[in-house]
Amino acid sequence: SLKVPNVQELAKQQLSGVPPRYIRNNDDENQLYNSSILLPHQLPPVIDMEIIKDDDETELNRFHLACKEWGFFQLVNHGVSSSLMEKVKSEIQAFFNLPMEEKKKFEQEEGDSEGYGQAFVVSEEQKLDWADMLYMITLPTHFRKPHLFPKLPASLRDALEQYSTALKELAMKILYMMARVLGMKAEELNVLFEKDATQMMRLNYYPPCPQPDRVMGICPHTDSIALLAILLQVNETEGLQIKKDGAWIPVPYRPDAFVVNIGDILEIVTNGIYKSIEHRAIVNEDKERISIATFFSPKLDGDLGPAASLLTLQSPAQYRRIGVADYFKGYFSRELVGKSYIDTVRIGNE
Ligand code: SIN
Ligand code: FE2
Repeated sequence: SLKVPNVQELAKQQLSGVPPRYIRNNDDENQLYNSSILLPHQLPPVIDMEIIKDDDETELNRFHLACKEWGFFQLVNHGVSSSLMEKVKSEIQAFFNLPMEEKKKFEQEEGDSEGYGQAFVVSEEQKLDWADMLYMITLPTHFRKPHLFPKLPASLRDALEQYSTALKELAMKILYMMARVLGMKAEELNVLFEKDATQMMRLNYYPPCPQPDRVMGICPHTDSIALLAILLQVNETEGLQIKKDGAWIPVPYRPDAFVVNIGDILEIVTNGIYKSIEHRAIVNEDKERISIATFFSPKLDGDLGPAASLLTLQSPAQYRRIGVADYFKGYFSRELVGKSYIDTVRIGNE
């Protein structure tokens, strides 16, 4: 990734307008929809994991439909303690409040996507997102860069260490619930991980912006290298939107919930029964927004493709088998736009 200005710093400069590199032609009229004007059934479903645990068929079916029809849902009663969630939120808020010279210690190095900065910047011409991020691999632990996770302020590091463990367990539970409702063999998931599931975390900071309707916090994209992404909205500012039937739907802030979504890798494994959905984040004129996205992916030294148990004569494989490491590498060397990367492995597209 190329080096770009720090947006938090930029936003402090009392700009009357934002620099041209951030200005986009946002022609969607519904860009600034707020969730309060929508009815519950127009918003991403809320899935209660306590009810599913009791083998409640109705809730299991709601869960299946949430994955199939929405690709996004809010998850409550998920077993991660509210004290851990609150601790993670306050530690992340504190990190972004640190003086710039403290944060710069984690600055992204040219050519690396990990660190504090902005990923997916591949040219001087491309439009930039109105956000800073701290991006790191968190699992397996031997992949952690020595200058990142281990060097974080101790209280943030401890919180993220616990959070990493809790979210790996949660991701596994969600995936096995999916396998169950899909009629997939558990073994077909097990082979993806063995000992070395990959987990990445991205702490997102979206500063206030004097022209919020002209910029993007994060441009529309799908989560290409993930089976699942689990998002915690750190403060109350709304901003995440998902594309549903051609419209951008806002995802409300819920302090007790995780926002879970399907990534391209799970679309491949389920042979398209579950689909990764385009989403984006918009920004606010006078409020900052903070979130932490945790991505859960297969081990890097394996390969994957549509699960054999989901293939039939009527529904043949729609995606080629891919080497996980190669797929990851290709992803970070391009711009993050739309849902196009998965097309490189779609059968009939080669
Ligand atoms: C993302 O796509 O990971 C960003 C989501 C967000 O900040 O809500
Ligand atoms: Fe995303």
